[in-house]
Amino acid sequence: MIEKIISLKAIITEDLKLIKDVKSLEDFRLKYLVKKGELTALFENLKSVPNEQKKDVGRELNLLKQFVESEFKNLKEGFELAEDTSPTIDLTLPGRNNFKGSKHPVEQVLDKIIEIFVNMGFDVAEGREIEDNYHNFDALNFAPNHPARDMQDTFFIKGNDDLLFRTHTSPVQVRVMENMQPPIRTIMPGRVYRNESISARSLAEFHQVEGLYIDKNVTFAELKGTMVTFAKKMYGDVLKYRFRASYFPFTEPSAEMDITCYLCKGQGCRVCKYSGWLEIAGCGMVHPNVLKMSNIDPDIYSGYAFGFGLERTTLLNTGINDIRALYENDVKVLKQF
Ligand code: DAH
Repeated sequence: MIEKIISLKAIITEDLKLIKDVKSLEDFRLKYLVKKGELTALFENLKSVPNEQKKDVGRELNLLKQFVESEFKNLKEGFELAEDTSPTIDLTLPGRNNFKGSKHPVEQVLDKIIEIFVNMGFDVAEGREIEDNYHNFDALNFAPNHPARDMQDTFFIKGNDDLLFRTHTSPVQVRVMENMQPPIRTIMPGRVYRNESISARSLAEFHQVEGLYIDKNVTFAELKGTMVTFAKKMYGDVLKYRFRASYFPFTEPSAEMDITCYLCKGQGCRVCKYSGWLEIAGCGMVHPNVLKMSNIDPDIYSGYAFGFGLERTTLLNTGINDIRALYENDVKVLKQF
């Protein structure tokens, strides 16, 4: 009797492997699980088993029955699941809002700056973050003893006195001039480094956007026109602007551009340090020495240049008042933009 049970189990196991659809599953059920099925027949035989074996044989039979029933149930459920076409989502439920990422505010402001200048006919160039003394200082007409060359202000590369982390994007002007002849109309955004302590107003690693325009007969009036157009597009209804005389080694004359404070509209407040004005950029006419050093003839060509801090512009644009907040990557800050 035990042998019969074992061989039936082997047969059943083979039959189970053949079940591929609802129809073959039903055939299986009719063969084993109905009253006249083969399993029931075995149970009938139990009567003729000697009493002392009944317990063991009965247990084996029951195990076989449980096996067949549970296999059948699993297969049946599998087929039912596959057949189930009822919708698994409820389209009438209100939608769940996914949190969407966005471009970093500094990147968004840079996109806007690039768009404004590209629309005025400028192209975009990039230089290198590790520069040499020549491009960062000499070619920009910095005097040999200029304080910016000091270790206090500049990060030099250990073991090579000639290499440094660029302190501004102005060396890209030099690289552009070395590689092309006028007309040149380029803006040059990029990361710069200064040996400064970090505060609400300054970082040791930040970004600038540089501009260079060189052609025949370029005048200071064109520089002003470009800067004012940029400021109006960038900061909206600029109430007033002004150019103050300034000094940079690589421009002559040099100026700094201010706009009326966006917050107090010129009344004076904490943001503009009660002056009513906000400084937005440095600029000037490219110094003839700078043109000469980069093989552009200053008797034929003239040009203007400008530069400003990208983070500064972002603060003015977004109303964030601590520059460090831009790089703490706090989602609560970032998701507002
Ligand atoms: N390089 C200057 C700085 O880092 C900014 C600047 C001022 C760039 C005047 C210019 C310019 O091109 O004409 O402070």
